Amino acid sequence: MREQDLRELLRSMSLEEKVGQMVQVTGAFLEEDAVITGPAADAGLTADDCRLAGSILGIAGAKRLREIQDRYMEAHPHHIPLLMMADVIHGYKTEFPIPLALGASFRPEAVERAMGMAAAEAASAGLHVTFSPMTDLVRDPRWGRVLESFGESPWLDARMAEAYIRGYQGEDNDLAVPGRIAACDKHFVGYGAPVAGREYNHSELSEHTIREYYLPPKIAAIQAGTACVMPAFQSLNGIPCTAYGKIQRDLLRGDLGFEGVTISDWSAVGELVAQGVAEDAREAAKLAIQAGVDIDMMSVCYARNLKDLVESGEVEERLVDEAVWRILTLKNRLGLFEDPYHGSSPEAERRTVLCREHREAAREMVADSLILLKNEGVLPLNPEKKTAFIGPYVDSRDTCGSWAIFQDRADTVTLREGVTECGLGENAEFFQGCQVLENTRVLGFGVEEVFGEPENREELLREAVEAARRADTVVLALGEHTLQSGEASSRGEIVIPAHQMELLRRVAAVNPRVVTVVYAGRPLDLREVERYSAAILVPFLPGTMGGAGIADVLYGRRSPGGRVSMSFPWGTGQIPVYHNDYSTGRPYDPAGAEQKFVSRYLDIPNEPLYPFGFGLTYGSFTYSPVRLSGDEMGAGETLTASVTVTNTGAMEATEKVQLYLRDEKATTVRPRRELKGMKALRLKPGESREAVFAVTEEMLKIWDREGRFLAEPGAFTVYIGPDSRTENGAGFRYR
Ligand code: NOJ
Repeated sequence: MREQDLRELLRSMSLEEKVGQMVQVTGAFLEEDAVITGPAADAGLTADDCRLAGSILGIAGAKRLREIQDRYMEAHPHHIPLLMMADVIHGYKTEFPIPLALGASFRPEAVERAMGMAAAEAASAGLHVTFSPMTDLVRDPRWGRVLESFGESPWLDARMAEAYIRGYQGEDNDLAVPGRIAACDKHFVGYGAPVAGREYNHSELSEHTIREYYLPPKIAAIQAGTACVMPAFQSLNGIPCTAYGKIQRDLLRGDLGFEGVTISDWSAVGELVAQGVAEDAREAAKLAIQAGVDIDMMSVCYARNLKDLVESGEVEERLVDEAVWRILTLKNRLGLFEDPYHGSSPEAERRTVLCREHREAAREMVADSLILLKNEGVLPLNPEKKTAFIGPYVDSRDTCGSWAIFQDRADTVTLREGVTECGLGENAEFFQGCQVLENTRVLGFGVEEVFGEPENREELLREAVEAARRADTVVLALGEHTLQSGEASSRGEIVIPAHQMELLRRVAAVNPRVVTVVYAGRPLDLREVERYSAAILVPFLPGTMGGAGIADVLYGRRSPGGRVSMSFPWGTGQIPVYHNDYSTGRPYDPAGAEQKFVSRYLDIPNEPLYPFGFGLTYGSFTYSPVRLSGDEMGAGETLTASVTVTNTGAMEATEKVQLYLRDEKATTVRPRRELKGMKALRLKPGESREAVFAVTEEMLKIWDREGRFLAEPGAFTVYIGPDSRTENGAGFRYR
C-alpha cells in the first residue's frame, strides 16, 4: 500500500479501532470455536477486544492462521490484516541447537543461514513476526534463560544479533519477500542481569556498564534493522523498563534511532501494578504508552483503558496515532495489505518444514557448536571396538529445550538413532542407566512432569555398570532436564542431578574410558564430571538433529567446532565469572608466590573451570607470534594483525582463531581483554594458513569519563590465539 493510502487509512480509523491495533492476545482467543468465557474472560477481554486486536501470538500452522485471518479481516471495520507473532527462537520445527550453542559456534555466517531456514519454515506456516533474537548479555548461569543468549561477550553477541536479523529479514530487510519474517530484538535492556540470577528479579547496572557491555548487541540489532523491539519486564535501577521513558523514548528511539514497533513482554504492562509503580491497570496503561510501548501483549490494560485515557485528555491521542502508524507500517512492510497470508499455505509448509536441506544444516550446526572440553585420547571412538552408550539421554527426544514450542518430538533424532543410522552401531550397546530426574516435579508452559523412583532402579544401574565393564569405551549421556533451563527456571545449584552423578561414579569405577556428553541449557558446574571423565562433550540442547550431529563427532566424521561463549564456572561461589572483567589495582597471579592483599578468593580459584573461547578439536594447532603491520596507528587508520596457524595433528579440523584487545591505559578502567575478531580456518594435517585481521579505530573506541564514545591515545595489546587466555600478543600505540 502506498504511504499516502496508509495515512488515509489511519485517519479514517476510530479511536477504538486504533487502540485495538495496540492490543495483542493469544491466537487461541481468535479460533473459530473460541468462546469469550474461560481464559479470555478471565483475562478481562471481551469479544470486541478480540475482534479489534491488531495482533495475535503463540499459534502457527498455515491452514489455522489463514482461517483466523479470513474471519478476522471480514469482521474488522477496515479489513486490516492481523499480525501473527510467535516465539521462534532457534527454529520452527527443524530446531537448531539452542542460541547459547549457536553462540558457541563462533560462526555468524552459519547462524544467519540457519535462521534463514527458521524464517522460511515459520513464514510457510503463516507467521509474520518472531520474538527473537534475545540479545541479552549474560554472566550468571543460575539464570535459566542463558540458554537463549549468545554469551558473555558484547562483540560476539553483536555479531550473532546481526546474523539472526539478517537470517530472518534478509540482507536488504525487505520483509515482503515470502519466506521472511520480522525480528523482534529483546529485551530492552538489562534483563540478562537479574540480581542473584533469579528469574524476573530486578537488575542494577550502572550507565557505564550498560553502555560497555549490555548495549552493543542491541545497537547491532537496531543497525541490522530489527523491525521490533521488546522492552524488558524487569525493573532496571529501580524503574520497570515497560514504564521507563528514558530507556524507551530517549535511549532506544532518540539516541539509537529505532523507528520500528515496540511490544511489551507478556502481561508486563499489567505487572506495573505488582511492581508497585502503578496504582491500577489504568495508570499502568498510561505509564506504558507514555514510556513508549506500542503493543500491549496480553494484559488488558490498553484494551480496557486507553480509549478513556485519551478521551479524558490524560493521554494525548498523538501517542496512539504514532504507535498505530508504526504498527500499520510494519503490516505494510510485510506486504499484508496485498497478501494477508504472506505467502503461507499448506503446500508451502509441506515443502519447507523439516525439509532435507534444513535437517542437514541443523545436523552440521550440532557438530559446529558442541564443545569438546576434555579429551584424554578417547575420542574419536573406534567403530571397531565395543562402546556402551549409557544414560537417560541415550533415547531421549526431549533435547530441543523449553522454547521449541512448535516442535514435534517425534521428529527428533535420538543419540541411539544417530549412532545406528550412521551405520556405526554394530559394536554399540545402549542402556538407560537411570532416569533424567528422580523424586522431582518440574513445570513448563502448561505441563507438569513428576518423576518418582523407578522400581527397577538398582537393576538399571547394575546393567549399565556391567555393560561398562565389557566395553572398550563408555559414552555417558547425562544432563539437566529441559525444564530446568529456560524461562522461569533459575537454579541455585547448577549441577547434574545427584543420581546421574552416582551412575557416572559407578561406571567410571569399572571403566576409566568415559566420555560424558552433557545436555544442558547452561554452563554447568562440571568439576565432579571432570574428575570422572576422560572426555567431556557439551552439545547443550542440540535440537532436532542432536543425535545425528553428536554421533558425527563421537565417531570422528566431523571435528567438534564449539567454543565456550559463556565461562563454565569452577563453582557457583565464583558467579559471575567472565573473561572481560575490569582490571584491578591488585591483580592476583596464580603462578606467583602466596599473596594476601590481592583480588582473590581464599578457598577457590579465580579462574573458571573452562574459560571463554576454549574448545578442543580433533586437530592440534600451533600459532606463530602475532605480526603487526606497524607499531603506531593514527586517527582513521587501520593496522593489520596476523598469525600463521598450523595443524600439527593427525586429523582435519577447523580452528576458531580469536583476536582479543587490551587497552593498556585509558581514562576509565578497561576490561582485561575483549574479543574483537574471529576467523574459522579449516586445516588438513600438516597444513598452515594465515589468519589476517584488520585492527580498526572503531575497535579501540570506549566510553570515556565524559560519556563520549571515542578512541583514546595510548598503548594497546593485540592477542591472537585459541582462547581468551592466550598470551600471544603484540603491542602498538594509538596516536
Ligand atoms: C515472555 C518472554 O519473556 C518473552 O521473551 C516472550 O517472547 C514472551 N513471553 C512471549 O512468549
